[in-house]
Amino acid sequence: MAAAVVRAVGGRIEIASSVVQGQAAVHRPYGGVVPELAARDHVSSVSAVVGRALSEAGLEAGALEGIAATAGPGLVGSLLVGLSFGKALAWRLSVPLVGVHHLAGHLASAELADPRLARPYLGLVISGGHTALYRIGKAGPVGLLGETRDDAVGEAFDKVAKLLGLPYPGGPALSELARAGRDDAFSLPRPLLSDPGLDFSFSGLKTAVALEVERRGPLAAAERADLAACFEAAAVDVLVARARRALEREGVGRLAVVGGVAANARLRREIARAARTDGFEASFPPPELCTDNAAMIAAAGLHLLARGERHGLALNSFSRVPVGEAPWAGPAPE
Ligand code: KG4
Ligand code: ZN
Repeated sequence: MAAAVVRAVGGRIEIASSVVQGQAAVHRPYGGVVPELAARDHVSSVSAVVGRALSEAGLEAGALEGIAATAGPGLVGSLLVGLSFGKALAWRLSVPLVGVHHLAGHLASAELADPRLARPYLGLVISGGHTALYRIGKAGPVGLLGETRDDAVGEAFDKVAKLLGLPYPGGPALSELARAGRDDAFSLPRPLLSDPGLDFSFSGLKTAVALEVERRGPLAAAERADLAACFEAAAVDVLVARARRALEREGVGRLAVVGGVAANARLRREIARAARTDGFEASFPPPELCTDNAAMIAAAGLHLLARGERHGLALNSFSRVPVGEAPWAGPAPE
């Protein structure tokens, strides 16, 4: 559960407070997210988390001028909790409400974290549920350039972590283990790299790790670290190569990388290296704005409100929507 307060100051958005209360401890015994437990945890924490966001911003609820809540895509049980709470608050305060698309939130984190980031730029969204490349043009609206054909890259990190016996959530644990491993100990595939398009695929890489684990039986500690390092290197290679190709094809000189996997240290290092070699600018939000947070949702919501968008109390949450339909919730067109 997360809540944040943001405010517009001059032409930019400032974060007044941002509270994220993770659920890792709730789900860890089951090795992954249990939707019913996620929703129940949201119910029991929403009020306190919103209260903390207000008190850390030094504000009473009455000072709020608008409310944003994630409408989807995601687990509807959890989404409904935040959305219903947001609706009730908006109604009580007589302020407007907007529903935000989760990916529009991730994309908004780029300009929130880096106000100097100038359009046009490419936005690479890499999370547990999505892997997609967008072009954010001068006039605002995003265009989808490529997306994953199977697993999201974060999902692949989580599944491989599970194969290696690491606790949930797997991505950060795998990355930690990989630090002790050798990148060249196993030969793993870089799916779709020779494909001329801009789509991604990660399920073949995950399966290759599963086959190694099956073939070798119980792994020694050093082998686990090697396999983690080789997987991470392959996944990062694919992301970096796709981003470079997209920048070249689109003739764009700026890249923003957002979403939970953008917190990955090896990816940040390799993108920065490619940026120096190819001469593009790379922008990453700080890790706490990469993984799910409410500040990015509030920022996207503020842009929508500033554009005059209003969503009524009949607004519903949704579990899925084509990534190409992620609505633009960035600053108004120039
Ligand atoms: O954006 P996010 O917090 O939630 C979704 O929208 O899915 O992304 C979560 C994903 C998870 O798959 C998690 O394992 C991955 O981001 N992740 C990482 C790291 N931190 C989070 N993957 C690799 N390295 C990390 N440091
Ligand atoms: Zn996310």
